[in-house]
Amino acid sequence: MKIALASDHGGLALKERVKEFLEGEGFEYEDLGTFDTGPVDYPDFALKAAEGVREGRFQRGIIMCGTGLGVSMAANKVPGIRAALCGDCFSARAAREHNDANILTMGERVTGPGLALEIVKVFLQSSFQGGRHQRRIDKIEEIEKRYGGGRENN
Ligand code: RB5
Repeated sequence: MKIALASDHGGLALKERVKEFLEGEGFEYEDLGTFDTGPVDYPDFALKAAEGVREGRFQRGIIMCGTGLGVSMAANKVPGIRAALCGDCFSARAAREHNDANILTMGERVTGPGLALEIVKVFLQSSFQGGRHQRRIDKIEEIEKRYGGGRENN
């Protein structure tokens, strides 16, 4: 499993913590920026990770900004992306088991680093349960198609 990491300046410090954690756990990842504290626009970095996941270069993404909200909104505009903003472990598990989320987003100004790393761990260890949940994912994809997104509109 290869993981795309990205953040704006508001999520940079948390991205560095997540990187250390992934390295320690032996996960393969790529850091798509930002790389310094200069102000940048979060959609640019959310898009890099979301496109990488959509294109299959990464199996998961973890994106951070100040709140986790902006990167989540931007990533979810990319068809096939299910980005989940999580601030607790219960949601992180459900995001994978029920929603088959392929991107985790978090807010550095909201969630402390200790909890954030637990959320990452749960998100990466949990698996989609399928069954009735697949029907609901299919309906999300129907909505994407209705509005011009979806996999057939590459
Ligand atoms: C940047 O100041 C901040 O707006 C951004 O990191 C994020 O919180 C947006 O949703």
